[in-house]
Formats: sequence, structure tokens, C-alpha cells
Amino acid sequence: MSDENHKFDVIRPYGSLTKTDEKQKFTDELKAWQTGAERQALKDAYWDAFQKQRDGVTMYEIRQGIIQLFTDLDAKNKDGLTFFDQPASTKFHGNSLGGLARHCLEVYKRFDMINKEEKLGIPEDSVIIISLLHDLCKWNLYHPKVTVKGFLDERSPFQLKSDCPLGHGEMSISKIQDYIRLADIEKLLIRWHMAPYDYEWKTYQNKVREISKAVEWFFIADYSASLSEGSDDE
Ligand SMILES: [Fe+2]
Repeated sequence: MSDENHKFDVIRPYGSLTKTDEKQKFTDELKAWQTGAERQALKDAYWDAFQKQRDGVTMYEIRQGIIQLFTDLDAKNKDGLTFFDQPASTKFHGNSLGGLARHCLEVYKRFDMINKEEKLGIPEDSVIIISLLHDLCKWNLYHPKVTVKGFLDERSPFQLKSDCPLGHGEMSISKIQDYIRLADIEKLLIRWHMAPYDYEWKTYQNKVREISKAVEWFFIADYSASLSEGSDDE
């Protein structure tokens, strides 16, 4: 199904609508999305990945906090949005309902393939954790943007509001570790997943490369996934 089908209809003319109509339209679109098949598919794909086994043991048995994390990802925030409803950016890639989870699943697909082809040796459960959770910093970060007149902004329907700006990769690590312990290689790949776009990359790149070439491959998986969604914006 095309990504276009799930974007807010941001270019539609709002002029003839009253403020109440518009808010109702947003509520209706959200309700349709939340009860629709694609949202369910995104959620199922996360759950399926979290149930994968390593040496006969499912991931949620090894990383017990995953069940609570999954439950919380599926809980509505004060905007009525769950993780599986939220966008991946304000106006660029994944700027749509479900954009964040859709992006992470695309990164998983790409990084899983690269890991095997390039023989990076990253364990499958780590590939899943890293890929599906590397952008957890964006969970509850974007909120519907309502203009001073009370209308949903047509060009940029979401705005960023952070109560605790720790940094991109750092925030993801912090949020994940509220639930599960991460291995060092997982922290490394999540922390540096923006590699050359991270202002500290120049300082750390040699040390990071010494430890694992997987960092830059993960950056490529993430970056190429975002390009396929329409922009390189994070
Ligand atoms: Fe990403």
C-alpha cells in the first residue's frame, strides 16, 4: 500500500472548514488509521520480531523489559497517539501516521540484509533491537501542530517538543535502557547511527571504526531507508 495513502491530507484546502470541522477531520483520520490494517501490520511486525528466538530462547525471555516496552509503545499519549501512530519527522521523511514504525521496519529489513551479506556478525536479536528501537528518541517527540487560529498546520502538521533534549542517539539509548539492558555494540550502533551527520563524529570516528565497521553500515541502512521515504531529514 502506498505511503501516500496514510499521509495527512496536508495539501487539501482547509479554507471552507470551520475550526471544529478541522479538528473533527483530524480526529476522524486518526481514528480510521488506528483501526486500520496498516497500523495493525506495523504493530504485528514489531511483535513478531520481538518473538524471534536465539538458541531456542525468545528475545522477550532474554530481554524481559521488552514486553513492558511493547505495551508502552502501544499506549496512547496525551495527543491520543501511540508509537505506532507517530511520524518520523515534522515535514520530511516518514511525515505521516505510522511513519516512525514504518521507517524502523524498513531499517530492520535493510540492516538485516547488510549484516548477512557483509558478514558483520551482529547477532539477530541485536539487529532487531538496534533497528526497531534506534529512533526511540522520537517517541512522543512530535505533536499535532495547531496554529494560533486553532487550525492544524497544512504544510507541517507536526511539531517537535522535547522535555529532555539529551541528543539523538543518546536519547534513544536512554529510553531503551529504561526497559532493557543494551550490549555495548548495540549502544555504539544506536549512538552513532547518524555518523557523518553527527557533529561529534569527527572526534570519535577513528575509535568507533576500530571497534566495528558495522556502525557505518547501520548508518547506510538508516540513511537509505530515510531516502526511500522521501528525504534525508531526521
Ligand atoms: Fe532512523
